[in-house]
Amino acid sequence: MTLDARERLIVALDVASVEEAQALVRRLGTAVCFYKIGYQLGFAGGLDFAQALIEAGNQVFIDMKLHDIGHTVARGVESIARLGATFLTVHAYPQTMHAAVDARAGTKLRLLAVTVLTSYDDADLAASGYDFTVPELVAERAAQARDIGIDGLVCAAEEATRLRALVRPSMVLVTPGIRPAGAASGDQKRVMTPAAAIRAGADYLVVGRPIVAAPDPKAAADAIVAEIASAHHN
Ligand code: C5P
Repeated sequence: MTLDARERLIVALDVASVEEAQALVRRLGTAVCFYKIGYQLGFAGGLDFAQALIEAGNQVFIDMKLHDIGHTVARGVESIARLGATFLTVHAYPQTMHAAVDARAGTKLRLLAVTVLTSYDDADLAASGYDFTVPELVAERAAQARDIGIDGLVCAAEEATRLRALVRPSMVLVTPGIRPAGAASGDQKRVMTPAAAIRAGADYLVVGRPIVAAPDPKAAADAIVAEIASAHHN
């Protein structure tokens, strides 16, 4: 894939209000061109803000992890496609993925499947009624996403190498849990540096707190982009 290093960095706008998001985007300036909006900001005016970001020339990842009956998923996907978003997450259930793939046909929206939430371990799966380990269910759902025509996966960087071998080459791997060397890991248990994640096969990195909570967010973003670029050239 021929992408600039800058285009591979997605900043998670994990803030409570559009005003905070606007201030952060202003500080980041041209250092960042791709933003992720999830539940917190999305349910606080963030979808209108997404439209403004897109009109200003940015790309937007709507991280709403859709999962409902097929008809409802399809109508939701159509609305997000009309917004002009680049990425949207759906849970990797076959019926949900089929509905989403059909609904985004002919648009530029690309669908990312969430295989198993990274907060889940084998005991959480058992409690949910699944007779699979986490790696088994991740592999099963990744293969289903590939066969159904999903455009990419959200995965931990440590899963990227294994999943890269399993999915179509055109599928993108988008990885959160990124921490530049020396940064606090917060509640992320499995973290990787930007360069290591790119080398492991990630196409896009989702970074929240290491940029959003940095004293100088633009400098933090610039440093991560430089690290992505160096990993690509090695
Ligand atoms: O602040 P931090 O860099 O940990 O933020 C990572 C972002 O990626 C958050 O918006 C979080 O919700 C999201 N995410 C994640 N792990 C996943 C899927 C999404 O951390 N498996």
